[in-house]
Amino acid sequence: MKVLMVGATGKYASLVVPELRQRRVTVRALVRDQSKSDAARQQGAEEIAIADLQDPDSLHAAASGVDGVFHINPAFAPNEAELGVAMVEAAKASGVRKFVFSSVIHPSISKLSNHAAKRPVEAALYESGMDFTVLQPTMFMQNFDSSWNTVLEQGCFSLPYSKYAKASYVDYRDVAEVAALALTGDRLGYGTFELCAPGMVNRIELAAMMSEAIGRTVEAGEPSFDEWTQAAHISEGSRREGMRTMYADYDQYGFPGGNALVLRAILGREPRSLQQYIQTLASRTTSS
Ligand SMILES: NC(=O)c1ccc[n+]([C@@H]2O[C@H](COP(=O)([O-])OP(=O)(O)OC[C@H]3O[C@@H](n4cnc5c(N)ncnc54)[C@H](OP(=O)(O)O)[C@@H]3O)[C@@H](O)[C@H]2O)c1
Repeated sequence: MKVLMVGATGKYASLVVPELRQRRVTVRALVRDQSKSDAARQQGAEEIAIADLQDPDSLHAAASGVDGVFHINPAFAPNEAELGVAMVEAAKASGVRKFVFSSVIHPSISKLSNHAAKRPVEAALYESGMDFTVLQPTMFMQNFDSSWNTVLEQGCFSLPYSKYAKASYVDYRDVAEVAALALTGDRLGYGTFELCAPGMVNRIELAAMMSEAIGRTVEAGEPSFDEWTQAAHISEGSRREGMRTMYADYDQYGFPGGNALVLRAILGREPRSLQQYIQTLASRTTSS
């Protein structure tokens, strides 16, 4: 079996590649330019297709001759919906049998572009005639990776929304496993699945888990959006503006929802937990 992977060089989607390789799937990585080829091969891709989601013509050739496509939309791209729809249409035109879309939980939240932009992609897929599996993950635990050094240096875990707002999380390795199961078997065919680990926590509770894992106090910080983007070196543009709206929404409503029942049933085991994830981050630090 051969799968075209969008995001093979990405922070999260790259985790799907080893899951596919483990199941003897040949991975063709879709990369935007030649300079990313080595990274994709190191990740485990055996074939490379140079194509760009912004260039629909390039996608047709990339999807020719594969059995399945794994697709993720680049975060906060201004024309995010168009990019995903273009990939669905190219896969259909190339005769692809199976399409797995890594979407987001609650695409019905119209106020948030990063949620609403997934709806047209899902709709295109439902009308495509291809066998589909739509994954609707909640917040990724892997988001912590980028702020972990700051947590250790400053003893503070900061995000620009209320520290009392609760959110649900999922380890993207579990999402990757579900994606690989969907691409290599029939059990998840024609399904749309909300994916999350059990429970919802706020940042005070997360900081307490971090404190326990590293053996010293971590506070929950709540900087303004501008302070936070400056510290995180997030430049002006669609990503920053999308984040501003998203964090304002989290501030008011949190990021609720998702029921671990679904992930538990699909994997036949407990989903990876937040405590385990934080413990792994902490042990990597101690051993490095
Ligand atoms: N973070 C969360 O907690 C969370 C939760 C739920 C859902 N989501 C959703 O998950 C997605 C994650 O996005 P991400 O960008 O952060 O993931 P990512 O895993 O980094 O993957 C994005 C991939 O898309 C590639 N890409 C970007 N623009 C492209 C283009 N024009 N043509 C071809 N490939 C292109 C990137 O390639 P390069 O390597 O060349 O950059 C990268 O490999 C978003 O849709 C987000 O809304 C995120």
